[in-house]
Amino acid sequence: MKINYQETTSDLAMRIDIHNKYGARDIDAWMLSILPLKAGMNILDVGCGAGKQCFSYYSHLNGKATITGGDVSAELLAQAKAEAAKRAVPIQFMDLNFNQPFPQADATFDFASCCFAIYYAENVPFTISEMHRVLKPGGVLFTSGPMPTNKQLFYDIIREATGKTIPPMPGSSRYGSEFLTTIRSTFSQVKVEIFENPLTFEAVDPFVDYTRASLSEDRKLWNSFFQTKDDFELIMSQIKTVAARRLAQEGKLVMTKVVGGFIATK
Ligand SMILES: C[S@@+](CC[C@H](N)C(=O)[O-])C[C@H]1O[C@@H](n2cnc3c(N)ncnc32)[C@H](O)[C@@H]1O
Repeated sequence: MKINYQETTSDLAMRIDIHNKYGARDIDAWMLSILPLKAGMNILDVGCGAGKQCFSYYSHLNGKATITGGDVSAELLAQAKAEAAKRAVPIQFMDLNFNQPFPQADATFDFASCCFAIYYAENVPFTISEMHRVLKPGGVLFTSGPMPTNKQLFYDIIREATGKTIPPMPGSSRYGSEFLTTIRSTFSQVKVEIFENPLTFEAVDPFVDYTRASLSEDRKLWNSFFQTKDDFELIMSQIKTVAARRLAQEGKLVMTKVVGGFIATK
């Protein structure tokens, strides 16, 4: 399956910032509480973006780990490298396209992760088998992604504002089903953990900013909703109107992120 998708630095940073400001819970703390990270591990983070998880692992292990982040976006890798230089930490960031064979040898890593990225793989069994291949026997893969009930309010408001059917999202429509099945058939043992994080908005603008960053990042997925910049702005103003009415009725907008964490042992 070809996924038309291109993350941009500003859209990703905007969503991370809104999660931090309006979310009740911290997803990094949740991950660290469930992951079997230990000092001395050799770690690979695939689809690392600007390095959020790599920096979190590094701090958690007080730098006592070898950490590599791989991504296909030159823009996000440049940002990750600049942050590593600023923090003076020896995390290696490299070009890695998870639709191609990984450059690493078999049985290289103790732990691999792929956070909010695996569902952009064109051939899911291939990408998961590459992650399995580069793990040592007994090594652990962690993936995170949206479950089907993720962000109901977001989709409800867009549906109401446009009167259109929401197109299937590569993440929430498949992550808890097709991806989980593939991981279960590739790894010996798989544990599922669920993280729920309500984001509470008492004003309409941050909700609209979040929606704008999500739709613009995934614009090819939404091409039945808008094609041109003008279409996009029209839809955003309709979304703002509906969001403002709901906010006035209910006093706040609560959008709950529902994330599945799959912990798979080789
Ligand atoms: C939503 S971002 C998540 C980034 C990071 N893990 C985080 O949570 O902040 C999805 C990431 O997947 C990356 N990605 C998409 N297709 C990819 C591919 N074929 N190979 C490697 N990374 C890819 C994007 O460049 C982007 O950095």
